[in-house]
Amino acid sequence: MNILIMGTGYVGVTTGLVFAELGWNVTGLDPDQKKTQSLSQGELTFYEPGLNTLLREHLQSGRIRFTSEPEMAVRDSNIIFLCVGTPSDRDGNADLQFIRQASESIGRYMQEYKVIAIKSTVPIGTNHKLSQWITNAQTVPVPFDVVSNPEFLREGSALHDALHPDRIIIGCESDHAIDVMKTLYEKIQSPFFVTKPKTAEMIKYASNAFLATKISYVNELSRLCENIEVNISDVAEGMGMDHRIGPHFLRAGIGYGGSCFPKDINAMLYMAKQYGAELSILEKVIHVNQTQYSHYLKIWEQKLGTFRDKKIAILGISFKPDTDDLREAPSISIIEHLLESGAAIRVHDPAAKLPPDLLSEQLLQVDLLEEALEQCDAIILCSEWEHYKKADWTRLKALMNQHFVFDGRNVLDGNQMTILGYHYYGIGRHLH
Ligand code: UDX
Repeated sequence: MNILIMGTGYVGVTTGLVFAELGWNVTGLDPDQKKTQSLSQGELTFYEPGLNTLLREHLQSGRIRFTSEPEMAVRDSNIIFLCVGTPSDRDGNADLQFIRQASESIGRYMQEYKVIAIKSTVPIGTNHKLSQWITNAQTVPVPFDVVSNPEFLREGSALHDALHPDRIIIGCESDHAIDVMKTLYEKIQSPFFVTKPKTAEMIKYASNAFLATKISYVNELSRLCENIEVNISDVAEGMGMDHRIGPHFLRAGIGYGGSCFPKDINAMLYMAKQYGAELSILEKVIHVNQTQYSHYLKIWEQKLGTFRDKKIAILGISFKPDTDDLREAPSISIIEHLLESGAAIRVHDPAAKLPPDLLSEQLLQVDLLEEALEQCDAIILCSEWEHYKKADWTRLKALMNQHFVFDGRNVLDGNQMTILGYHYYGIGRHLH
């Protein structure tokens, strides 16, 4: 079977490479020629561990190729995966223009039966719209089936997540298309959950919103723990041992970011309004997330005295480690606040780069951790890269002017840092 992946962003490239790895012939299609040329030369347009090697391997094996020409690509495929972006529009709704453009090219160029699967996160009912858009673009009627097959991979561990998913969700009403999907995924050992298209679409939103809710819950709890001298990390560990709660997504920090949680929760709230339902919990989830970093900045400013004229090292700016993605990263809000407070900032990140137009004399990005710490008064750790966990904090201390460490992800060993002479503060973290 020939698989066509439409959209060669994060989800598209990972999905394509995973199918190539499973032995299928894959074509990646994207109107952006710069992207397809760079991918054809074995260069990813984003940072993700493990993907570069796999890309080069499968370019060589001939199992994957990239193009910007839709006609042949659509014609030669048996199965098409839509992996195009669904950004938020001004109202918070998911903007479906890329899904619509993709479905129109499918309709225009298809000449025989195809299974068309949506991986992009799309509002409830998109499956149905997609069928209409394809049919309207066809000049002669050709049969097809549409499947909703949401993707749950995380940035930073995309390859592992795509090869070992907790479940494969298939929203589809055609037995033939369900069989095609089963064949496609047969080498992956994961439960296969077949349901209605709308349900599959809802499962994706509901899962992301639930994970964000867990995070906002522990983040808000951390504020209480801060006042009652209890360590939120211990509380979360104890809670997570209950298998009904589970240990994951209970790490308190400066808040969630990224390309999915903020966008998907907004889209859910928009949908709820549209259908006359209330999702008041999610409104609170957003509120806690938006106030979490400022709550801790206030506490940290008190510890330091003031941010004015202080030199602050920001460690890790990506929204999470092992990615260079800055979308909705809490570090950006923190940097903006510190600039307004008159601090001088040096930023370090193993992969992510601040956009050049943000940089100034007051805000520099440096390549070495040592350069960021030189003469600084305080460190604010915004994403938990291994690089910082493994750093030689005994040696680094000598570089600093004052030794305040504000650990926005609770990942450094606070007791050890205190023994070394740092003034260590985390998130809702009372040390023994
Ligand atoms: C998320 C979903 O996990 C994934 O299933 C979906 O396909 C896309 O959205 P991603 O955004 O890549 O994945 O990263 P994730 O690991 O979920 O982290 C999201 C944010 O939550 C990050 O900012 C992270 O730092 C934060 N987070 C995560 C916490 O603050 N605490 C936690 O315990 C876990």
